[in-house]
Parts: sequence; C-alpha cells; structure tokens
Amino acid sequence: MIADSIRTFVRQIDEMGELVRVQRPVALALEMTEIADRCMKSPGGGPALLFEAPVRADGSVSPIPVAINLFGSMRRMERALGVTDLDAIGRRIAELIRVQPPAGLRDKLELLSRLAGLARFPPRRQSGSGACQAVVERGPEVDLRRVPVMTCWPGDGGPYITLPQVVSRDPVTGTRNVGMYRVQVLERDLVAMHWQRHKVGAAHWREMAARGERMPVAIVLGGDPASIYAASAPLPPNVDEYLFAGFLRGKGVPLVRAVTSDLLVPADADLVIEGYIDPAEPLVIEGPFGDHTGFYSLADRYPAVHVTAITHREHPIYASTIVGRPPMEDYYLGHATERIFLPLLQLTVPEIVDYHMPAPGIFHNLVFVSIDKQYPGQAWKVMNALWGMGLMSLAKVIVVVDRDVNVRDPDEAWWVALNHIDPERDTRFTMGPIDVLDHASRAFTYGSKMGIDATRKWKDEGFDREWPEVITMDAATRERVDAIWSELGITVPGRPR
Ligand SMILES: Cc1cc2nc3c(=O)[nH]c(=O)nc-3n(C[C@H](O)[C@H](O)[C@H](O)COP(=O)(O)O)c2cc1C
Repeated sequence: MIADSIRTFVRQIDEMGELVRVQRPVALALEMTEIADRCMKSPGGGPALLFEAPVRADGSVSPIPVAINLFGSMRRMERALGVTDLDAIGRRIAELIRVQPPAGLRDKLELLSRLAGLARFPPRRQSGSGACQAVVERGPEVDLRRVPVMTCWPGDGGPYITLPQVVSRDPVTGTRNVGMYRVQVLERDLVAMHWQRHKVGAAHWREMAARGERMPVAIVLGGDPASIYAASAPLPPNVDEYLFAGFLRGKGVPLVRAVTSDLLVPADADLVIEGYIDPAEPLVIEGPFGDHTGFYSLADRYPAVHVTAITHREHPIYASTIVGRPPMEDYYLGHATERIFLPLLQLTVPEIVDYHMPAPGIFHNLVFVSIDKQYPGQAWKVMNALWGMGLMSLAKVIVVVDRDVNVRDPDEAWWVALNHIDPERDTRFTMGPIDVLDHASRAFTYGSKMGIDATRKWKDEGFDREWPEVITMDAATRERVDAIWSELGITVPGRPR
C-alpha cells in the first residue's frame, strides 16, 4: 500500500528493515548532516534515519523528530510511489498517451477514457480543517525556531528547510504549482524563497510582482510521499503536482484551505508554514548553501516570505534531506523522474530508446541518450530536441549513442562513446540557458553546451572507413565454459557480464 503520511511511510521503511531510529541527542547543526552523509554515501544509499532527539541551537531537544534519507534507496523510492519497478509508472503513462488515430466511435470513447485516466484522481477539497491544522500558531505565536530545521554545512548562510512542497498559484490561470525549493530561515517569522528563475514558482512570483499584488505561498512539510516526490518532478507549468500525485497514488490528495490565505494545502501534511511575499519589499540575501553540485552556491537575492501561520499535526515528523557531493538522497528522487518521464520524451522524440543521468553529473551536467538511428545526423536532431524541452534545456553535456548501448551503465556508455568519437568531428557547442547552480558558465544562467555524437558513423555522414564489431565470445564456447566452470576451482562468479 502506498503511504498516506510520513508516519506510515516511516513505519513501512521500518518493516522493510531500512530504518535506523537514532535515540541519542544529535545536533541539528552539522552533526545530523555528517551522520546522514555517511549513510547516503554507503552502497545502495544507506538506511533512512529517524532522529528522535534533535538538538536545537539553544541546546534544547525538539519534541518533533527529524526523518532523513526516506527516499534514499531504490527500494524506498519504489515504495514511496507504490511500485516494485519505477519503469512501471513510465509504462502506465505510455499506455495512457499511446495515441493512435481513433478508427470509429468506440475507439474515440476508449481513447478519451484512457486519457482521462491521468486525471482520474484529482485533488479532493475537504471542508473544515485538516489533520495538518490540529495545532495552529498565528501572528506573534509563530516561531520557526521551534521547527527542527537543519543547518547542513559549515559555510551555509543559516538553517534551511530542504524537502518542502512550496505551493503557489498562477494569478492568470489560477493553476496551482507545487515545487521543491529550499527555504532559508532568516528570523522567527521570515524566510527566503530559493525558487530559481527557470522554475514555475519564480514565474508566478514575476507575474504577481508585475501586478504589485501580495503573493500567498504555503510551505508544506511531510505528508504523503508521492506528493513530496511530485514537488520535485519537472511537470509542465499547467499541470498541478497534486493531480500528478493523485495519479501516482491512485487516490486524490485531500486538500484543505490554509488558515491565513485561500491556498489549498494537503490535509495530511505534517507541518504547513503559511505566508506571503510583498512585492514592494526589496529582495533579501539568500545563501550561501552547500548545494547538490557538491560546491557551495553563492549568496544571491531572493524574495522574503513573511510567515503568517504555522500549522501542524498532533505528532508531526519533520522530513528533511541534505544535498552535497553526490551521491545523495536526491539522486533517487531524480532517478524516479528519469524513469517516469522516458515515455513523455519518447512522445516527441520517438527514436530515444533510453536515457540516463548518472549521479556525478547531478542531472543537468550529463545526459546519456541511446537512439534507434535510422538516418544521418539523427544524433544532432535528438540533442537539439532535448535542448528545447522544459528543464532538459539546462543539460550541459549530452552524449548520444546507438540503441545497443546500455546507457544506464555509465562505464559502458563512456567506454563506447570514447571509442566511437573523433573529438573534433563529433562534438559541437551551442548556447542556451544554464542551470542557476552552474558556477562555471560565462554568465549567470547563460552559457555553452556540448553535444557528443558517439553513434556509429555512416557512409552518408562522410565516414568511408570500415566500422569494427564489438568483441564477444561465440555462444558455443561460452556454453562449454559454463558447463565446466564449477570444476575449475576459480572463485570469481562465472559470466560477469
Ligand atoms: C532536494 C531537492 C532540493 C531542491 N532545491 C531546489 C531549490 O532550492 N530551488 C529550485 O529552483 N529547485 C530546487 N530543486 C529542483 C526542483 O524541485 C525541480 O526543478 C522541480 O521540477 C521544480 O518544480 P517546478 O517545475 O514546478 O518549478 C530541488 C530538488 C530537490 C530534489
């Protein structure tokens, strides 16, 4: 069963044998990061942790426990989304969007009902208050120091909320957006909102600022794991993440009205920080922050959010994460996106067989793509298509290989790619938007990209030498050796690949 709340998800992880409850007091500042980082760097992503006695800056123990690394293994990521194989979600989406021209009325109806499947579980508005509003603190009662927010790295500008669902609304269309944007705690009732300029929350903010209107936001913490994941997914601006979470859960996300704005928030959330941004106010300094590049992001200017209320469940769990030198927990969240979104990429670029963003490439730095090459120059066509697509436009290096290469094994992908290129002939540079976190581009968020065509080169592409075959042993010899392997006294496992 897919979990409805963090508490249920923590229990499920415990039953899976992947949870460690840390009863000893551990400081929210730095110590928690050092412990979580050692776990996340261990093979397979390490255990999830529940810190039951987080120690605040003033030395007191927070009654709210901190959960971290909940999504940080393949099994836990799958469990969060209620599947045993992340590709299964991609296949479900592929089935829904497998659009064939309908032959007759029956086909048309069938197609409509299939497409409606994506929206079969819309968010459900509940009347009255939700579990997330069992305790309500407003105005002068608001004190973010009571929330166990971690200070992750020694050079960080302050404590950061790292796993939030930031809810905002498009003032023109009314569409909701839910984005995972880190939030820096500045004062008892003031935070800085780090939505990067390419993100949907930032676009809503630009529209609100242009109108000179106060912008309500809700920073949702915890709740059901599918909604947390959905906040990190690069959905198109007109798709509501809670609708997508409903599709993943097979059950609509219950929403209630926030207590100090008309935004709707998940009823099952653990904590909700409500507030507004005043467009008349200057931006504030946010950062530095030890980021998922493995380097510190420099301080920059972002909008301040005035906190008008903090609401929470009876016994909330504060869900957190850390980012830093990869691999970290966010690799698994990103990996889910990679698998789930493959059929959507294939919808517009059908020659894509598979793709993979390896952990050291931190998503936007490196994308391996395998294609079913049918005509000359197709690798360039694919790169250009990807650079024109949503957040994929931020990809710094794209390497395209033929369909027989397993791009999910970076060693194999590099081995083939480096063999197959004539660097001067097979690399091209282009310009475009660059991820906000890139510290090397010539200008902030603007710079160059590199495409590498590592497919086999064809005569039609001007290659008139012979292309060699990859070395493999013949099947008969392999079978003979398989049959005698156990008699050879060799301890390495047979058939390594
Ligand atoms: C742990 C984690 C932290 C993130 N922090 C930020 C952040 O601070 N700012 C940001 O713009 N994106 C951040 N992202 C990436 C966004 O969540 C992601 O791009 C998402 O698609 C944004 O949603 P949107 O498309 O609705 O804007 C983070 C992702 C993860 C997994």
